[in-house]
Amino acid sequence: MDKIVVEGGGRLVGSISISGAKNAALPILAASILPSGPSTFKNVPQLQDVATMAKLLRRLGGEVDGKKTMVVHPPHGRKLKLEAPYELVKTMRASVLVLGPLVARFGKARVSQPGGCAIGTRPIDQHLRGLEAMGAKIHLDHGYVDVECKRLRGATIVLDMPTVTGCENLMMAAALAKGRTVIENAAREPEVEDLALLLNKMGARVQGAGTAIITIDGVDELQPVEHTIIADRIEAGTFAVAAAVTRGDVLLEGAQAEHMDAMLAKLRGAGVTVTVERGGVRVRGGGDLRPVDITTQPHPGFPTDMQAQFMMMATQARGESMIKETIFENRFMHVPELARMGADIHTDGRVAVIRGPRKLTGAPVMATDLRASASLVIAGLVASGKTEVLRVYHLDRGYEAIEKKLRGVGAKIKRVKA
Ligand code: EPZ
Repeated sequence: MDKIVVEGGGRLVGSISISGAKNAALPILAASILPSGPSTFKNVPQLQDVATMAKLLRRLGGEVDGKKTMVVHPPHGRKLKLEAPYELVKTMRASVLVLGPLVARFGKARVSQPGGCAIGTRPIDQHLRGLEAMGAKIHLDHGYVDVECKRLRGATIVLDMPTVTGCENLMMAAALAKGRTVIENAAREPEVEDLALLLNKMGARVQGAGTAIITIDGVDELQPVEHTIIADRIEAGTFAVAAAVTRGDVLLEGAQAEHMDAMLAKLRGAGVTVTVERGGVRVRGGGDLRPVDITTQPHPGFPTDMQAQFMMMATQARGESMIKETIFENRFMHVPELARMGADIHTDGRVAVIRGPRKLTGAPVMATDLRASASLVIAGLVASGKTEVLRVYHLDRGYEAIEKKLRGVGAKIKRVKA
């Protein structure tokens, strides 16, 4: 397994090009199943999770060509196989996003239950309840979900929580259903809006994306299109924190500030200078960092995917910060690793109290989930000495060439092949 080695010290100065959003690319690639012809996607991030989704589309009988610009020919003909197997789904929960499109287009699908992951159990009951409301027959069998419905029909669905992929799955299913579907308590993430934009370009009739009530009037068929993926707000936020803690000056090229309000507000509250420029978002660290109080929330609240990175920043702030994780039940696995580097963090259930500033020292640390790994890399940038982040396959799932991008702004960082 590869590891990433970081030498601490030094400021990050320069500009980093932000890639396409992982969490927009994944539902959008799944939506390529809906039309009968090939769609073209631009600004696709080169990530392990995107490669896994491409592999899944091929397994279903589709063809996927290209990298940053991807042409996807949906599953068709003799190769059609309406099953998402366990060995793929267990590596990436977002594989479940093919469920809605497959049932909507082909009338049935068999998808492995994703099972839990490091950050929580992450069930898909909301996805299934919504499909059932639209007339699908659901059968659980040996860890797989069999979903069948000749033609889905529109329904009003009230989600128990604003699940992002749950909402996306149901939007895609509703696009080809008969009649109107209303999704209440819908997820409001920018990635949901990007999916709605894609679906409407295909000829769907989606209204209200970005708000808590999304209305979809089903149509009989959708057309293949060309679409450019939005910038990754979480990648941009991750590098913004790195610039802040190294007292650097970094332009996040292509970052879309309008998707980052909550995290940019917290950066400014910590005393970081954030300016929106033509080319993107510029982040300048400088004086002492002030403590932050954060509660993760569904969008437009503070994103859970930025919690670990801001906790690392809080270790450098002068005073006491409090961070509450309300989305996932086990998303503090970066805490013991940061503590090994010298951080002063106390947790009680879903609340963490961080006292700073603390001088961090480099150490071998273990990555556990995608965003925890990112917070450890950032910690390595400010720790004295060498930090080795092991199991970087977690990082590769969601960050394109992170060590190259950081080296480009002065970080002393390299990947050591296993
Ligand atoms: C999406 O995951 C993102 N992934 C996650 O990003 C992100 O952390 C999460 O939304 C929350 O913002 C993608 O978009 C591919 P949820 P998702 O369904 O959709 C519970 C990253 O780092 N829930 O919004 O899987 C669930 O257990 C990843 O890029 C149910 O109970 O998350 C969780 O507690 C990590 N039943 C909460 O809702 C369901 O049917 C939010 O989960 C669905 C979800």
